[in-house]
Amino acid sequence: MKYAPIISKFPHFLHGGDYNPDQWLKHPKAIDEDFRLMDLSGCNTFSLGIFAWTSYEPEEGKFNFDWLDKIMDRLAKKGYNAILATPSGARPAWMAMKYPEVRRVKRDGQREPYHDRHNHCWTSPVYREKVNIINTKLAERYKNHPALGAWHISNEYNGECMCDLCLKSWYGWLEKKYKTLDNLNERWWTYFWSHNYTAWNQIDPHDGCVDALKLDWSRFITWQCCDFMKHEIAPLKKLTPNAPVTTNMMGFFNGLDYWRVAEVCDVIADDAYPSWYKPDDNSGMGSYLSMVHDMHRSFKGGKPFMLMESCPSATNWQQYTRLKRPGVHKREMLQTIAHGADGTMYFQYRKGMGSCEKFHGAVVDHVGHENTRVFKEVAEIGKIHRKLDDVIGTSTAAEVALVFDWDSRWALDFSQGPTNANKKYVETCQSFYRPFWNSGVSIDVIESISSFDKYKVLVLPMLFMIKKGVAEKLTKFVSNGGTVIASYLTGIVDENDRCFTGGWPGCGLRKLFGIWNEEIDGITPDDKQQVVAIKGNSLGIKGKFKAYDYCEQIHLEGAKALAVYGKDFYAGKPAVTVNKFGKGKVYYVAARTSDDFLKDLSTAVISEMKVKRILSEDLPSGVTAQMRTDGKREFVFVFNFRSKKQKIDLGKDKFKDMLTGKTVEGRLKLEADGSAVLERL
Ligand code: GLA
Ligand code: ZN
Repeated sequence: MKYAPIISKFPHFLHGGDYNPDQWLKHPKAIDEDFRLMDLSGCNTFSLGIFAWTSYEPEEGKFNFDWLDKIMDRLAKKGYNAILATPSGARPAWMAMKYPEVRRVKRDGQREPYHDRHNHCWTSPVYREKVNIINTKLAERYKNHPALGAWHISNEYNGECMCDLCLKSWYGWLEKKYKTLDNLNERWWTYFWSHNYTAWNQIDPHDGCVDALKLDWSRFITWQCCDFMKHEIAPLKKLTPNAPVTTNMMGFFNGLDYWRVAEVCDVIADDAYPSWYKPDDNSGMGSYLSMVHDMHRSFKGGKPFMLMESCPSATNWQQYTRLKRPGVHKREMLQTIAHGADGTMYFQYRKGMGSCEKFHGAVVDHVGHENTRVFKEVAEIGKIHRKLDDVIGTSTAAEVALVFDWDSRWALDFSQGPTNANKKYVETCQSFYRPFWNSGVSIDVIESISSFDKYKVLVLPMLFMIKKGVAEKLTKFVSNGGTVIASYLTGIVDENDRCFTGGWPGCGLRKLFGIWNEEIDGITPDDKQQVVAIKGNSLGIKGKFKAYDYCEQIHLEGAKALAVYGKDFYAGKPAVTVNKFGKGKVYYVAARTSDDFLKDLSTAVISEMKVKRILSEDLPSGVTAQMRTDGKREFVFVFNFRSKKQKIDLGKDKFKDMLTGKTVEGRLKLEADGSAVLERL
């Protein structure tokens, strides 16, 4: 199947970026140049007005949209699109001074002065009213404008506010959720340190000893953000029902549960600034970026997303401003497309002359013309996009899914123990993801309450929290023939962060996994532990592997050991198990192992479950293959993350190189940091 283009009237890749002509109104020649350069750069879509509130409303109630009218008209004349922003990400100083309640209150109780951006109170009725007025004005003015393609709601929502209005909202949210304090006290286990509350307003979000409180505060922040977003979107939907709304997310940003934010968006958009720092091998960053993209595609069940921001050269805020080496920018953009993006855009189109982003990479540099390395690379992407029009609307046919769950991550991070030094939720997901990526297997990144129905293999790295219904879903999945690979620290707490009693993994998983996890050894870097494969194990894994951080003490209750610990007082005890259940299997990895073990395990499961590999032959290290398909045509993207040439064995299949038009078979040669897009013939 094919999805509709993100902007329905525009069946091409969106290419362009944050464009801030409001910063250049006193430099009209620069704006004229911008439009000349747009054609040369192959850019076609511009996010406008993200931080332009003061230019729209320099004084309270006095509006000026003349400058935007001109920009919108000029874009329309060229057939380009505007992704018009609501300007709530940064508010005018007059507003912050006149209405202190729009400014956030920090954890220390101080109200923030007027400064920076992304620091408005989500509850403030004044702020909500001001946002409603400006958003309505924008929608009224541009509702029939041919350049209006989509709405960019605010910018990178983040943060929290502890003002009295927000606290009141928090108490109300809790009351709605728990109905009675008695219920809350029981579910939060507040009898601890005399915390059983007797009034809602005693529930102080600063309090660090009730783990469930911290967890619910994060959920509340997510709810507040979504509620504010819905408030922003309401006038837009009323006046421009056909324009999709999106907001720019930030990868695995910890502060918001993006699964919930995604529900409020029509289109998913992400900002990604990978740092390609390694001189020889950037496959670590490469696989990380792929996992981020896979999640953004999975947010809406496979619907194409867009990259709202990326940097065409170097950012100004990372540790090093290492320039993108030849091929790197092209690979980064194609990689995004390979995972389901129908648009790749930049921050920013033109580099500003002053203030704190004056050194941030841009399509148009301070020099102001097209004869720069970066501009040429951007223009090349514009040309490549045009050759890939057929890819628009296609998705990915993944047979493997990895669960990435914010609630579970928060619960794990907010708990004191087990072991505090190296919880590493994201890194653990990454280590379990990477061997599939290396094998050229498509993966969805889903949450624990998503449907598991279409997958053959489910990967659960540190699924600490088991929410209602999840254990039953897992049991059904395995009974019907699915394979689960679960790691240490799975099945420890319920959705209120209360430990399961009756043995871990809890909630019925003990039976499904065929093990009992009695204790968790949180080992130090000085301990040396090993996982040793048992000779003749069913997956054919051989050898010894290093183990770190977590070594659980598990008992076999029906499962079989595939590997045991090699050292210390538990040498010889099970470390990796498999349990047959119904028509399926559960693999349990009780220790954090070195990546080579996960590679052997995943490769064996891929063969055992006959998971489709995008290319039939093994890929060299540092190479991945990804695929988009509409169910008929198959577009295969191949990437080399090493700074040396590599040859990839294409097996028996024949392909057409979509960028050169040539037929490719046998071996594909990739340059250092090279990439290719092939259609399977
Ligand atoms: C974020 C913001 C942009 C800009 C870039 C710089 O993604 O959304 O406004 O500050 O960072 O990298
Ligand atoms: Zn507030």
